[in-house]
Amino acid sequence: MTRKVSVILDEVFPKIPHDKRLVIENYLSLLLKWHNNNNIISSSDTEYVIKREIYDSYEFSNLITGKTFTDIGTGGGIPGIIIAILNPDKEIVLLDRKSTYIDFLRIAQHDLGLNNVNITEQDFFVNKFQLNTETVLFKNFSNKKIAKMQYEKKLIYMIDTVKNSKSVKKVYLLTGTPVLELSEDFVEDYKLTVKKISSPFFPTSRYFAEVLL
Ligand SMILES: C[S@@+](CC[C@H](N)C(=O)[O-])C[C@H]1O[C@@H](n2cnc3c(N)ncnc32)[C@H](O)[C@@H]1O
Repeated sequence: MTRKVSVILDEVFPKIPHDKRLVIENYLSLLLKWHNNNNIISSSDTEYVIKREIYDSYEFSNLITGKTFTDIGTGGGIPGIIIAILNPDKEIVLLDRKSTYIDFLRIAQHDLGLNNVNITEQDFFVNKFQLNTETVLFKNFSNKKIAKMQYEKKLIYMIDTVKNSKSVKKVYLLTGTPVLELSEDFVEDYKLTVKKISSPFFPTSRYFAEVLL
């Protein structure tokens, strides 16, 4: 039997205040409804989405510092929307190049009343595009241009593109185990620090990585 979303959220996030949990519940209900027609997230299994995507985004949100963020390749708004709900004092730009996501994000922003969110339809790799936040976030960013690159090369390409924007001082990644295998040169050049986000629900953990520009 499928369990009620509110019951799972209460169990997984006892520390999130009730009013914010309600907003997350409304977000999930919109997200899963849109997913049925537009395939905008990695899974339609509600319990998986909560315990993997939302839980990891919650832990990630507890580790970030700063005031302004761009979530590059935000898709359905993960992690950007979760960060915006949990931190009304932070300003979040949700950036994606696909109109399907952008249309969904505009509806979600309106219906959830998120005043700290800006939505940008933009190809991040377009020449001379300028970000205007102090921090950027990447989670599961994928693009044809970098798909075949080895993980370290991919990161360098992404970070070097971010560097074209003078405002950005920090990059946060929510990523997997390959971040543990980056070269010493990379760690030194990009002042990389990594923290494990342990999952109480899955054997595989994700990692929080910080790069200083
Ligand atoms: C695998 S999805 C990840 C979505 C979300 N961050 C998550 O973890 O659920 C990758 C996203 O990156 C976006 N994307 C790919 N290339 C992009 C580009 N050059 N500029 C902006 N967005 C891009 C895609 O449209 C897609 O929404």
